[in-house]
Amino acid sequence: MRSAVLSLPLLAVGAVAQAENLYTATATSAVYAAQATAKTLSNTSNVKGKAFDRFVVVWLENTDYDMAHGDENLNWLAKQGITLSGYHAVTHPSEPNYVAAIGGDYFGMQNDDFNQIAKNVSTVIDLLEDKGISWAEYQEDMPFSGFSGKAWVNQKNGKNDYVRKHNPAVIHNSAASQIDRLASMKNLTMFYEDLKNDALPQWMFITPNMTSDAHDSDIQTAGTWTRSFLEPLLNDKKFMKNTLVLVTFDENETYSIQNRILGILLGDAVPKELAGTTDSNFYNHYSEIATVEANWDLHTLGRFDVGANVFQLVADKTGDQIRTWSGELSQRYFNFSYAGVFNSHGGNRRYPAPNLSSCGGKTHNRTILPAIKELWKGSTAPVYYTPKLEIPDGLNPPSGFAPVV
Ligand SMILES: *[C@@H]1O[C@H](CO)[C@@H](O)[C@H](O)[C@H]1NC(C)=O
Ligand SMILES: *[C@@H]1O[C@H](CO)[C@@H](O)[C@H](O)[C@H]1NC(C)=O
Ligand SMILES: *[C@@H]1O[C@H](CO)[C@@H](O)[C@H](O)[C@H]1NC(C)=O
Ligand SMILES: *[C@@H]1O[C@H](CO)[C@@H](O)[C@H](O)[C@H]1NC(C)=O
Ligand SMILES: *[C@@H]1O[C@H](CO)[C@@H](O)[C@H](O)[C@H]1NC(C)=O
Ligand SMILES: *[C@@H]1O[C@H](CO)[C@@H](O)[C@H](O)[C@H]1NC(C)=O
Ligand SMILES: *[C@@H]1O[C@H](CO)[C@@H](O)[C@H](O)[C@H]1NC(C)=O
Ligand SMILES: *[C@@H]1O[C@H](CO)[C@@H](O)[C@H](O)[C@H]1NC(C)=O
Repeated sequence: MRSAVLSLPLLAVGAVAQAENLYTATATSAVYAAQATAKTLSNTSNVKGKAFDRFVVVWLENTDYDMAHGDENLNWLAKQGITLSGYHAVTHPSEPNYVAAIGGDYFGMQNDDFNQIAKNVSTVIDLLEDKGISWAEYQEDMPFSGFSGKAWVNQKNGKNDYVRKHNPAVIHNSAASQIDRLASMKNLTMFYEDLKNDALPQWMFITPNMTSDAHDSDIQTAGTWTRSFLEPLLNDKKFMKNTLVLVTFDENETYSIQNRILGILLGDAVPKELAGTTDSNFYNHYSEIATVEANWDLHTLGRFDVGANVFQLVADKTGDQIRTWSGELSQRYFNFSYAGVFNSHGGNRRYPAPNLSSCGGKTHNRTILPAIKELWKGSTAPVYYTPKLEIPDGLNPPSGFAPVV
């Protein structure tokens, strides 16, 4: 492992190794050189959860709720599990939604740029590792584990394949600055390798390529891909180990309407009697973090994860309270970003601090990760995270973070 890393030219010229920039080169020769040496890690663990022992997320792209719900293959999948009809994205375009799903905020991002989130911003990965729960990402057609460049195209036809903006972990320097974490950001070839070896982790985030996920194609293509990927796994004992699968989308397509997307929960962790049912509670991408926290009794990030609803079937086992959105939800569009560090229109560019005294109130009893408390203690940065379900959007920004439009 170490020798592979030390042989890189960056170190040969005496520069300080910055793991987060180690694998950003996109020239074909650089990619193939790194592919030959980059480390791949397949951590496993077996920590019992209250409602599931494995969580698998599959993200598709840019499709309005009705279009997704109407797709024949997604509909087939929905019949095997629970349809989430009140699931919302948090903004447009893609990248901030991916970021939010593991970090608990998008820090004003309103673009799909080569963004790097500061190392002192923690993610669900820190929470999982804190409890010894193994994790990995599987990004279809990523050329090698830990590749951090902006994109990689199909070498035969030049079409888009892998894009950094759909890889939430690599955008966070808290993950991209550690070799073992880079080594856990893998491609789908490695998924099948890990499956064969019975070496899949307990938490995984799966991103199909730009054709498979509907971005450069259509919902029929993505529906077909998703069913052909998942259907064999539904009966695979190496995959189904009290597993909860969430299939969802980053955002819906039409910017002028509310950003509601389809969510489907599947797997052997879904009780049989719930197959074919609909759960219409309000969820958003922060629910992905909150659900995992509740299931394994993790600490929190002290950001929007704290107030998010936990998926009902999990909340039923953890005692979390599900709340309804107070106020007029139909007037909340979640269709553009408030200001923040990554907002290229300007405005307030400070990182907000996590809410160090955050607690779940009557909803749950989880507390912030001690390491996050340590990192941010004494910070004078603004705090805008409350334990409430209601989150801001571009039209209803946090105080001091009005967007420049
Ligand atoms: C997937 O990643 C592995 C590990 O880095 C690499 O060896 C392999 O070539 C990659 N597969 C594809 C299809 O790019
Ligand atoms: C995307 O993945 C599918 C299979 O999952 C593959 O057929 C296709 O060649 C890949 N890339 C592109 C650009 O379509
Ligand atoms: C892998 O597992 C080891 C041993 O449990 C742990 O210390 C390490 O944090 C894990 N790393 C990742 C990236 O999961
Ligand atoms: C968000 O949706 C509202 C309501 O349809 C619309 O007025 C506004 O222009 C949209 N904003 C963007 C950036 O699309
Ligand atoms: C996007 O979400 C809105 C609100 O939930 C929904 O009414 C709309 O149908 C979705 N877009 C389309 C065109 O389906
Ligand atoms: C931080 O969380 C606490 C406890 O949940 C809450 O009472 C407080 O209002 C929050 N702080 C801010 C600035 O929202
Ligand atoms: C939080 O802990 C208290 C004291 O142990 C307990 O009474 C309460 O039910 C817990 N609340 C939840 C939502 O788990
Ligand atoms: C976190 O990192 C950002 C960016 O480097 C910096 O501006 C901020 O002061 C840091 N906060 C703390 C508490 O270290």
